[in-house]
Amino acid sequence: MNMDYLRQEINTWLDNYFENKGTYNKVIYDSMAYSVKVGGKRIRPTLMLYTYNMFKNDFNNILPIACALEMIHTYSLIHDDLPCMDNDDLRRGKPTNHKVFGEAIAVLAGDGLLNEAMSIMFNESLKGDKNVLEACSIISNAAGVEGMIGGQIVDIISEGKLIDKDQLYYMHKCKTGALIKSSIVAGAILGGASKGEINILDEFGEKLGLIFQIKDDILDVVGETEILGKNAKSDIENNKTTFVTQFGLDKCIEFCESLTKDAIDLLEKLSLNTNDLKDTTIFISRRNH
Ligand code: IPE
Ligand code: IPE
Ligand code: MG
Ligand code: MG
Ligand code: MG
Repeated sequence: MNMDYLRQEINTWLDNYFENKGTYNKVIYDSMAYSVKVGGKRIRPTLMLYTYNMFKNDFNNILPIACALEMIHTYSLIHDDLPCMDNDDLRRGKPTNHKVFGEAIAVLAGDGLLNEAMSIMFNESLKGDKNVLEACSIISNAAGVEGMIGGQIVDIISEGKLIDKDQLYYMHKCKTGALIKSSIVAGAILGGASKGEINILDEFGEKLGLIFQIKDDILDVVGETEILGKNAKSDIENNKTTFVTQFGLDKCIEFCESLTKDAIDLLEKLSLNTNDLKDTTIFISRRNH
């Protein structure tokens, strides 16, 4: 399935979600919709739909859950950009949420997106399918303190410090890897994958998450602000500990290549059509934004 087509479906669902919402609280919807609608690669929902599609061909059924995951990701970006976090003023090619709406509303917009995502997932779960319940539980754990938030915490407390390799791996596995992995595992569970298939996809998702953040660290150093849609050299300015500061650029490029090969080898173990996931893995490791 074409990636642009899926992105379009995801965008339409998200656009509709924010249509005609709000009264006295309308500005919160404006602020939430601003960050969601300015775009982004939509990698996480796309990965979920691609994984699901290996098992079933009615991906519209899981669009709300895929879009809820994108809302969680967008919330994490709004908060990540705040002055008290990475203090960035450009995101997805536009001024960051707090630059447009102010810090108080940006904080609430992040909270709002997280909460809306949880409500969407509860509503889907209430329809009674146990696989839906399990997938949503995996996503909410991945966003939590043992997942994305745990990684963000280590990122913040490690600024300007030398940390050991285990801590660095923990940080990347959690702050970015957890949501990426959950998109794949949730897609598999929703599709009715077997335990064996889920285990392989779990391992694949973990590698893909690591590739994603190592590449993000590389792009911070070698990328161009215009293409990235966010400020290059932000990590350097914030004195961040990253894969690049720890291992150097060349080693990181090598890691990305060997992890990409390992990830694709894992997909080869499945007796399914994994072409879309393979293409997305290569896209992630070669991307320039
Ligand atoms: C950026 O994520 C933040 C990280 C977790 C590294 P993306 O690179 O997926 O950002 P968008 O969604 O395309 O803007
Ligand atoms: C962000 O990591 C991870 C999350 C938002 C959870 P970064 O701080 O490296 O992401 P960018 O580079 O600002 O997109
Ligand atoms: Mg950050
Ligand atoms: Mg950041
Ligand atoms: Mg980064």
